[in-house]
Amino acid sequence: MSAPTRQIFVTTALPYANGPFHIGHIMEYIQADIWVRFQRARGARVLFVCADDAHGAPIMIAAEKVGVTPREFVAGIAAGRRQYLEGFEIAFDHWHSTDSPENTELSQSIYTALKARGLIASRSVEQFFDPVKGMFLPDRYIKGECPNCGAKDQYGDSCEVCGAVYAPTDLRDPYSTLTGARPELRSSEHLFFRLSDPRCVSFLQRWTREDDRWGRPRLQAEVLAKAKEWLGEGLAADEPGHDSTPADDGASSGARLADWDISRDAPYFGIEIPDAPGKYFYVWLDAPIGYLASLKAFCAREGIDFEALLADPSLEQVHFIGKDIIYFHVLFWPAMLHFAGRKAPDRVNVHGFITVSGEKMSKSRGTGISPLRYLELGLNPEWLRYYIAAKLNGRVDDIEFNPDDFLARINSDLVGKLVNIASRCAGFLVKRFDGRLAAVDTAVAADFAARWAGIDAVAELYETREYGRAIREVMAYADRINEYIDAEKPWELARDPACAADLHRVCSSALRAFADLALLLAPVLPVTARRVAAMLALPSQAWSAIGVPLPEGHRIQPYQHLMTRVEEKQLDALFGIEPALPAGDGKTAAGPIAATTAAGATATSASAGAPPATITIDEFAKVDLRIGTIVAAERVQGSDKLLKLSVDIGGPAPRTVFAGIQAAYQPDRLVGRQTVVVANLAPRKMKFGVSEGMVLAASDESGAVAGLYLLEPHAGARPGMKVR
Ligand code: MSP
Ligand code: ZN
Repeated sequence: MSAPTRQIFVTTALPYANGPFHIGHIMEYIQADIWVRFQRARGARVLFVCADDAHGAPIMIAAEKVGVTPREFVAGIAAGRRQYLEGFEIAFDHWHSTDSPENTELSQSIYTALKARGLIASRSVEQFFDPVKGMFLPDRYIKGECPNCGAKDQYGDSCEVCGAVYAPTDLRDPYSTLTGARPELRSSEHLFFRLSDPRCVSFLQRWTREDDRWGRPRLQAEVLAKAKEWLGEGLAADEPGHDSTPADDGASSGARLADWDISRDAPYFGIEIPDAPGKYFYVWLDAPIGYLASLKAFCAREGIDFEALLADPSLEQVHFIGKDIIYFHVLFWPAMLHFAGRKAPDRVNVHGFITVSGEKMSKSRGTGISPLRYLELGLNPEWLRYYIAAKLNGRVDDIEFNPDDFLARINSDLVGKLVNIASRCAGFLVKRFDGRLAAVDTAVAADFAARWAGIDAVAELYETREYGRAIREVMAYADRINEYIDAEKPWELARDPACAADLHRVCSSALRAFADLALLLAPVLPVTARRVAAMLALPSQAWSAIGVPLPEGHRIQPYQHLMTRVEEKQLDALFGIEPALPAGDGKTAAGPIAATTAAGATATSASAGAPPATITIDEFAKVDLRIGTIVAAERVQGSDKLLKLSVDIGGPAPRTVFAGIQAAYQPDRLVGRQTVVVANLAPRKMKFGVSEGMVLAASDESGAVAGLYLLEPHAGARPGMKVR
């Protein structure tokens, strides 16, 4: 009798729609995708969804800065998602947005249900208000002098100089970073989810400790320890480590859960609270509900009954998240679901952060390697999947991307051990035996089986996200097969016609085992597994096919190239390390055209021989570079150098820029093209009019190469986008 099909609803955290993916996002998706592919290979029905987290003040403000509506802003971000997901073979069934009708409806109905249970309270809150902007300010938009050490320009929650933690109201000389205005304290009614209610506390104390339906703890040990602290069962209370939210939204500082402020006043980009005009759900209320909204949209697309599916007790609900958002996922989210009469999640799987050679990536800076650059440079996405998998375990440890280690693992494991087996044996089989396998050598199969952990052990490791160990076990199997090939030396057997039967047997045994390896690694290397399946004409790619030997006479296809080695220069390119230029090469520097210099506005180059003095990132950040579309261009009467440009940089009206590029460009050739504009250059009055900025172009300072080359962004950039 076969077990009933496992049904699993899997999500990854919904990324903020305020920028493109960084390597941390991709790592999370790879971790979840491997798990999903493993479950599917084992016959489970998996619904794997994600969405953009579109709401909140930061996105509203970012959109305003570039002169578009928040909806237009998040649509632009959403349009860029696909290339990453497809590029890294992430098999989401659906990608949605929290700014959607499904999410509005679900958020409002969950809120209404919580209210009916008496779990919503209203309370007056004092908060900083920007009188110029006319809005309450989230902490991150308030700066001032540290009350502890006096350092200037510190954020509203903590001091970067002395590390002190405080409330924004403690700052000396506070100012709004949006307008520079001095904020005023004003009070407003806020709605709270009563997490401190004894019903919530006791539910969470039970839920966090329970095992899942498979008898495994629902939460990892480290995560449970945190939850216990927050629930007042541990030693010290702790703060949730998130940087996107005001300090008042739930961090318990005593041995008791604080109520959670779930409302924000207009103007806010979010979902309106049904019975509170002018108030919106705080983004973290509707964000996790976005998991359900995405599933709902997927169900509608596929003709599945969403509510019936969600209510089905056999449906497991599994979330993959990073360690910075545990608080939201193990306290608020299960409590919201439970008290709204829905099922709480089965598991919350937490991972650590990926760092690139020691530097932590942050949401704002996104340092490290760019996943898009990785793809654009043509690096194999499966290298990254394999490398990340090899580093991951089931705990909350951080992992490090180390380029030398990356190169070594790919070249020695994937190419040296794995691909090598097929490349050494498939050719003989096709050339000498018409691609047909010899009879199964049961002694060799038994010997292989005895020398590694085995299929079920690897399955358990995938199940528990111990991917690094799973890969080590599979590689131990690969080692055993390689040892066998080394000992049997098919290349020598091939020279002696009397050894044909041995050659046939050896190559057949190795390739049968190779089929196992490909299927064992298929969750990590889906593309390679598909190629191997085609080459070996595998009857099935299911997990159940592993260890079932291909029959005698089974015919394989000629060997197809499977994977190349990583080259050092590819990693150099990824990390932006330029190859050294040969001596005497006329290096072209990208220098600004000083369109506004007094002396006839000629082009100048960035540096004169010696490299420019270094500047700090903060100094660089003072230059406001924007994408602009040239909407009009004309010659300037009385000047043989200047063109007068009208450039749309996302603001209400195009900017006028006089640029010294007449020698290089016909005016009508420029109209409609994009370039980069220095937007905060002080306006300059010239003989011909006022120049309100500067366009950027490259020129050769040595004069060896003639011409001027305006900078132009890759396709897809929009007027007003910031260049940094
Ligand atoms: N929008 C919220 C999540 C809402 S879930 C209902 C958010 N977005 S995020 O874009 O900042 O982060 C998305 C996910 O990426 C989170 O799980 C976060 O932990 C993860 N990571 C962000 N940086 C990371 C690394 N450097 N390494 C690994 N994962 C990291 O939080
Ligand atoms: Zn300080």
